[in-house]
Amino acid sequence: MINVNLKATENFVSSELYNKQVEQAYKGLDTVLKGNGAGNDFLGWVNLPSEIDNALIDACNSIVSRWRGKVDVVVVVGIGGSYLGAKCAIEALSHSFAANMCTTNPQVVFAGHNISEDYAAELLEFLSTRTYATVVISKSGTTTEPAIAFRIIKEDMEKRFGKEVCKERIVAITDASKGALRTLANQEGYSTFIIPDNVGGRFSVLTPVGLLPIALAGFNIKELVEGARHMQEVCSKPEANNPAVMYAAMRNAIYSLGKKIEILVNYNPKLQYLGEWWKQLYGESEGKDEKGIFPASVNFSTDLHSMGQYIQDGERILFETNVLVKNAAHKVVIESDAQNLDGLNFLAGKRVEEVNKMAQLGTKLAHIDGGVPNIEIEIEKIDEYNLGELFYMFEIACGISGYMLGVNPFNQPGVEDYKKNIFALLDKPGYEEASKAIRARL
Ligand code: PA5
Repeated sequence: MINVNLKATENFVSSELYNKQVEQAYKGLDTVLKGNGAGNDFLGWVNLPSEIDNALIDACNSIVSRWRGKVDVVVVVGIGGSYLGAKCAIEALSHSFAANMCTTNPQVVFAGHNISEDYAAELLEFLSTRTYATVVISKSGTTTEPAIAFRIIKEDMEKRFGKEVCKERIVAITDASKGALRTLANQEGYSTFIIPDNVGGRFSVLTPVGLLPIALAGFNIKELVEGARHMQEVCSKPEANNPAVMYAAMRNAIYSLGKKIEILVNYNPKLQYLGEWWKQLYGESEGKDEKGIFPASVNFSTDLHSMGQYIQDGERILFETNVLVKNAAHKVVIESDAQNLDGLNFLAGKRVEEVNKMAQLGTKLAHIDGGVPNIEIEIEKIDEYNLGELFYMFEIACGISGYMLGVNPFNQPGVEDYKKNIFALLDKPGYEEASKAIRARL
């Protein structure tokens, strides 16, 4: 069960301010649950955990069985919300050196999340000595980055394996009826999964967008959904210990004091991509109408040796949200050394995790002294269930928080602007006027 600890914010936020924000958070929660706020046509994720049935889990697992033992690699093509949830879960749950170890599961690699020619070339080189399958994910079915990557991969697969095998080895996850990817999948006879209309990309990790790649990497998606389901129950109650209410209320209380940057902190490199997923969730949901907390992330203790100076001592516009893991999965004890040249014998007999925990505590106290409020979100351990809880808690807190801020948390008008410029610069048919206008600026 997720535990939100607000003790390390007490020097900064009065109980009066916090309680006022809790009242606002209850209203935000009510708006999310009743579906009567802005963007309410994108609330399909709210009841998703309780609505996911065994048929969907079984359908994902049937693709796992279809490809098990037949492919070495699965390429997952997608960007933004069609990439980050799966990437986050797979990074969190995998062995740190999975890419260099033998397993019975195919290795999952990602494509279509950048437009780097080097990445595309090196991916093809890597795949050239492997048998592979592809999951292509795009809700709109028209996003440039994954469309380019899929065109390249499809051509390679058809050349190497033939069109008939591709029908078995390509799965498309997209809209039920609209978009170029839907048309292509129907025409080519690929298996498909549907992204519900009312679930936006950044809230889609518990749809096939996240579930299929996570299952293909060998993880238990039933447990992931169970964790989310538990959080759905807990987070739907307007109670003082509702973790989503606590988190949303406190981050808005701190924001109201002028701290405009929230840094998501982890002390376990497996959680690096939780930061990436969370940044998209909060950045795209709240950063609009010239408002919103800027979401950043760091990996400690690694980044204490780079960003630590700024956080301790730079402009006082920051606060931290620490995602802490109570129990490490492994045990490594530091041994005594006869020579003790490194002077570390005072640590002999201690687990590495004990040192990590002291690093967490020492850093928290130093940052509080430096004027950085700290929110703590603790999970029991890194596994599918806890990750499911975390995903859902952050999602519902995001909806609540967006309504507290007074924005529509479920649209993303700002991400269209740069896309128009790219199309104009690349002379896409239909963009002739925009092309002329943009060239005049160069
Ligand atoms: O959250 C979002 O809406 C975006 O990040 C999208 O997920 C991203 O742009 C990919 O879109 P699509 O799935 O339509 O290819």
